[in-house]
Amino acid sequence: MVLSLPVLGGLFTFVALLYYWVTKQDKKMEKLEGIIAPGPRGLPLVGNIFQLDWKHPFMTFVKWAEEYGDIYSASMGSQRVYVVTDLKMVKEMFSQEVFSGRLNPGRGVNDLYTNGQMHGVINTEGRHWEDLRRFTLRQLRDFGFGKSSMEVLIMDELTEILEWMKSQKDLPVTDVKQRMAIAVVNSLWTVVAGKRYKHTDPAVVRLTKDITETMEELGKKAGPGIMMPWLKYVGFKGVEMWRNHLERIKLMFSTVMSEHKETYSEDSPRDFIDVFLREIASCIDEDSPFFKEVGYRQLIAVIKDLFDAGSQSSSITLTWIFLYLATFPDVQKKLQDEVDRVVGNSRQCSLSDRPNLPYVESFLAEVHRFTSAAPVGVPHRALADTTYKGYAFPKGTAIMANQYGIHYNEKIWGDPSNFRPERFLSPDGAKFQKHEALIPFSTGRRQCAGETLARDTLFLYTSNICQRFEIKFDPNDAKANPGLKPSAGFILTPQVFKVVFKDRLD
Ligand code: HEM
Repeated sequence: MVLSLPVLGGLFTFVALLYYWVTKQDKKMEKLEGIIAPGPRGLPLVGNIFQLDWKHPFMTFVKWAEEYGDIYSASMGSQRVYVVTDLKMVKEMFSQEVFSGRLNPGRGVNDLYTNGQMHGVINTEGRHWEDLRRFTLRQLRDFGFGKSSMEVLIMDELTEILEWMKSQKDLPVTDVKQRMAIAVVNSLWTVVAGKRYKHTDPAVVRLTKDITETMEELGKKAGPGIMMPWLKYVGFKGVEMWRNHLERIKLMFSTVMSEHKETYSEDSPRDFIDVFLREIASCIDEDSPFFKEVGYRQLIAVIKDLFDAGSQSSSITLTWIFLYLATFPDVQKKLQDEVDRVVGNSRQCSLSDRPNLPYVESFLAEVHRFTSAAPVGVPHRALADTTYKGYAFPKGTAIMANQYGIHYNEKIWGDPSNFRPERFLSPDGAKFQKHEALIPFSTGRRQCAGETLARDTLFLYTSNICQRFEIKFDPNDAKANPGLKPSAGFILTPQVFKVVFKDRLD
C-alpha cells in the first residue's frame, strides 16, 4: 500500500504528539514521590473510555474496584482518575484542601459563560467557591424568607401530591417520576424565586422539562463531546446542542433576576434571589464573587447549580421510595404502624415528629444505602501535585469516592443485598442509629450543600404518604413490577413501574 504525503504527515504528527505526551507525563512523575496506583490497562490517548458500560458508565468504576481493590487508577482520555473504595481513605482525602478541586471537562464548555472563568458552586474552586458555598449552605439550612419556613414550603408541595394521589385512587399510575420531578422543581423555584405554581400549570411543567428531562437527554448526547472536545472536528454536534440549552437556561434565570431587581426591597427579602441581591448591593470587595457584574453572573450560575444538583437527585430518590414501598409490603406496613402509633391520623406528620419515628428514619437511611443514586459521587480534582499512602496524585488527577462500593461492602453491612431498615435501629428497636459508612451526600469539604433540604423533603413525603396511602403494584398488570435494576443513565434511576394508591382513611 502506498501512503500519501498527508497521511504520512498525519501519522508523524500523531506519533510525535504521543511521544511528547508520554515523556511529559514521565517528567512530571519524576518530581513526584510515590507510584500511580495500578488499575485496568488502557489504550494510548483514549485510555479506558471504550471499556465503560455506556448504559451505566459509573457502574464500570464500581466493577473495577472489585478487581483492583480499595484504590486504583484508570484513564478517561488524558484524564487520570483514581477510584477510592476505602471509607477511611475517602474521609481523610475529602477533608483535605488539596483534594477539594473540581474537574472542568471540556475546558469550561459546561459553564453558563464562555469567558474562561467557571461560575457557581459545583464547578468553582478557591475563594469564589468558598464564599458562594458558605452563603448557599447558610441560606438553604436556615431558610426563612418572608413568613415561610422550609417546612411550610415542602408541605405545600406535598399537599398537592397527596391530592393527586387521592384523585388517582385505585387507578394504575405510571408517572410517579414526572410527578416527583414537578414537585421538587416547584419547591426549588419557590426557594429561589418566591413563586409557587400549581402542578398542572404549563409554566412549571415546561420548567421541569427544561431542567430535568432535557438535561437527562442532552447529558447523554453531549457527554462524549464534553469528555473529548476534539470530537467537534469530526462533526459531532452534541456540544453545540448543550451550549444552546445553556443559553436558554441563562436567559430564563436572567429574566427572573431582572424582575427581582425592579421589585426588591432590602428590608424584606422574599427568596434566595433577594438575599443574593442584598449581598451584591453591600459588597465592596473586588475579589468577592458578590462584586458588581461578577455577582450577577454568579447568582445566575448558583441558581442553575441548585437545580442541577437538587432536582434530579431528590426526585429520583423519591421515585425509588415509591418502588421500594410497593416491592417490600412488610416494610411499608411497619412504616404505617409506626406513624399510626406515634402521630395518628388527626394531624399531618411534621419535622418535630422525627425523633419519635425511628423506623421512618431507618427506612430513609436504607433507601440511601440501597439506591446509591450517585454511585461514585461527583469527581474531585487534586489542586496540586501530592502523594497519599504512597500513591502519586499529579495536579489535575480526578478522585472519585466509590459510594456504591462502600454501601455494598459485606464486611461493613453483612447482608448488603437485602433491603433491611432494621440495620439502622438500636438493638431494642427504639432508636435510629447513624452509621458512619453511609455517605450518600459524600463527606468533607465538598459535602452536599442541600443535604438538610433533601433530608427534610424525604422525611415529610415518606411519613405523610404512609400515613394516608397504601402503595401496591397494579394487580391487573403482570408487568407492573420491573424489578430493582436501574435504567440507563448517569444517576441510577428506577425503570418505569405501575402502582395503585389505596386511601387508608376510606
Ligand atoms: C437525595 C438528594 C441528594 C443527594 C443524594 C445529593 C448528593 C450529592 C453529592 C454526592 C454531592 C457531591 C459532593 C462531593 O463532591 O463530594 C453533592 C453536591 C452538591 N449538592 Fe447535593 N444531593 C442531593 C440533594 C441536593 C439538593 C436538594 C441541593 C440543593 C438544592 C443540593 C445541592 C448540592 C450542591 C450545591 C453541591 C455542590 C457542593 C460543592 O461542590 O461544594 N443537593 N450532592
